[in-house]
Amino acid sequence: MAEPQRQGERLPEDVGTDDCLTSYTHIYSPDLLKDQVAFITGGGSGIGLRIAEIFMRHGCDTVIASRNLEKLKEAANKLSAVSGRRCLPLCMDVRQPDTIAAAVDETLKVFGRLDILINNAAGNFLCPAASLSFNAFKTVIEIDTMGTFNASKVVYEKWFQNHGGNIVNISATLPYKGQGLQVHAGSAKAANDAMTRHLAVEWGPSGVRVNAVAPGPISGTEGYRRLGGPKGEAAGAFQSLPLQRAGNKTEMAHCTLFLASRASSYVTGAILVADGGSWLTSPNDVAMLMGYWSSEKTRDK
Ligand code: HXC
Ligand code: NAP
Repeated sequence: MAEPQRQGERLPEDVGTDDCLTSYTHIYSPDLLKDQVAFITGGGSGIGLRIAEIFMRHGCDTVIASRNLEKLKEAANKLSAVSGRRCLPLCMDVRQPDTIAAAVDETLKVFGRLDILINNAAGNFLCPAASLSFNAFKTVIEIDTMGTFNASKVVYEKWFQNHGGNIVNISATLPYKGQGLQVHAGSAKAANDAMTRHLAVEWGPSGVRVNAVAPGPISGTEGYRRLGGPKGEAAGAFQSLPLQRAGNKTEMAHCTLFLASRASSYVTGAILVADGGSWLTSPNDVAMLMGYWSSEKTRDK
């Protein structure tokens, strides 16, 4: 878990598992998203789950949508229990526009409105470019980049075009300096950052704001585990970050809440870097990363 802060700030509560918070102190007004509806891709785990929880604790109903329906149902039950708001779990694959369209239709049928889209679904693993198969690169681009476009376009055409809305894309800072072993995910997220600005320009006149949050290492997540976070933390690697710690999921949810709410009503096309200053100072040591990869390489199945 994240180290205690030094600046006299109180860190927001978090838990390191895919469970809801045991206590929560509001920073924003508890009714900031009252009676709005948010559609969160990949909302059944990690950062997406915490975004769903924090939104629901601010009066929002949510749809959490990804491939594993059992996981989503379990998450939805937990989320509703802690917040008293409705959470609809829906099965879809962001690579398949038809499945997104069906999920958005169901959302509109159940809730009658849609205010916020969070493009959080992603896939990643450590792999050097030379060992990456063509299909592996394509798979990550299809989930992260095409998935973000697919969901945005479906939601825009079915609702936002005529009603306005807010899109927040969950990005990353690893592409900023060409992080080793990350050409697939870094290329995908860099494309998403460009997409954020392009869609902000085209859809602003329809009342749609499009922004992004770019997290750094966030503890208690699948991404953290896959990118060597626990090992790095044990070795003191985060001491070299300006804020000298990993971030937590609630911190990412607060950034997302800011961009998805009227707190940021004049902000569009922005990428909110939320990485503790990580990309400015953390090492990108190819020899070290290659050694790490060959000792740790595993498939997730
Ligand atoms: C190298 C790998 C690999 C690995 C899979 N592949 N895992 N290559 N190293 N560890 C290859 C496979 O061999 C295959 O290529 C291709 O990728 C597709 O693999 P599938 O298993 O068929 O794909 P699929 O079932 O669609 O699963 C997608 C996945 C999987 C991305 C591979 O890991 C997944 O579902 N992940 C979702 C959860 C996740 O990754 N969360 C962390 C997000 S963190 P071949 O050639 O053999 O057919 C994050 C941080 C962002 O995103 C930082 C940005 C810079
Ligand atoms: P995570 O828990 O694995 O979240 C990814 C989610 O995406 C999962 O819930 C997964 O659910 C869903 N998903 C994957 N492929 C999908 C597909 N084809 N269609 C629909 N849903 C799909 O990982 P996380 O670490 O919290 O990552 C969340 C976001 O933060 C990602 O965008 C990631 O790139 C970003 N990020 C994370 C970190 C970090 O340190 N964790 C750092 C930078 C950026 P299913 O398996 O049910 O489909």
